[in-house]
Amino acid sequence: MSEGTDFVRLGPELWVFGNADGAFSLSDWPDLPPGLEKMQASFGRESVSKTRGLLDGAIAAAIKPGSAARTMDDLTLPQYIAFLVADYQRMRPARPLFEKAARRFAAAGLNEYADYAREKADEESGHDKLAFRDLTELGLPAQQVIDDLPSTRSLALVQFLEEIVESERPVACFGYAYVLERMAEMRGREVLDHVQDLVGPDVNATRCWYIHSGVGPEVGHVEELIEFVSKMPPNDRAVVVKAVHQTACIKYAADKIFDYYRDDQILEVLAGYSNLPDRINRVIQA
Ligand SMILES: [Fe+2]
Repeated sequence: MSEGTDFVRLGPELWVFGNADGAFSLSDWPDLPPGLEKMQASFGRESVSKTRGLLDGAIAAAIKPGSAARTMDDLTLPQYIAFLVADYQRMRPARPLFEKAARRFAAAGLNEYADYAREKADEESGHDKLAFRDLTELGLPAQQVIDDLPSTRSLALVQFLEEIVESERPVACFGYAYVLERMAEMRGREVLDHVQDLVGPDVNATRCWYIHSGVGPEVGHVEELIEFVSKMPPNDRAVVVKAVHQTACIKYAADKIFDYYRDDQILEVLAGYSNLPDRINRVIQA
């Protein structure tokens, strides 16, 4: 590892290194080689690039073969519906939880953290409603679909954020935010076009994914967050990097750990509703 490298231990045999060029590497050393230990002193020299490497490396370390991370090329309409339910369940508690984190930071005199957590809370305001409206716009009884296709993965993510906010180190909430914002940023125009094809050209049911994409209005959030984390004291920065890894481990855990609805399971649920639009009826009957 070069001198321009920061590192954080993510697990017993897992280290992430963030390099000065923004790249990262991972290692399964049980312990640091002696020469590198000295370099720990360098951790904390403010660097946006090294922080970017640490944060992205912590996500990459969670994505293993067989995990839930996948391309969106083969996304189907039933799966999109299940994703909207999962988005709704994850986004609905986000605002109150980030507000709570802000109050805890303020009480501890950490005003910059409090302000930024409040900003995150404000940004999340109404985002759950976007997913709800998209479901409604698809001609579905939104609340019924949410009740019938709950996402245990989203509920696990929310539980993790609750634990963070209650914990000794609520600063980890910025690691949680990083994973969700970074992964949303990866959603490009081609995915949005594919979803528009799925829902039909005249149906406005892509609000939630457009806002949470690499072409929507929130596209600068990831860069802001990296810069914010890069200015933290070393200990806090390490807490954030570990939280990124833990959040990504939940988000990308193998399908068999959490729910993963197959198309036929989703369609069976939808078939129980009345007055569905033709587009969805055609998929059910196909
Ligand atoms: Fe959001």
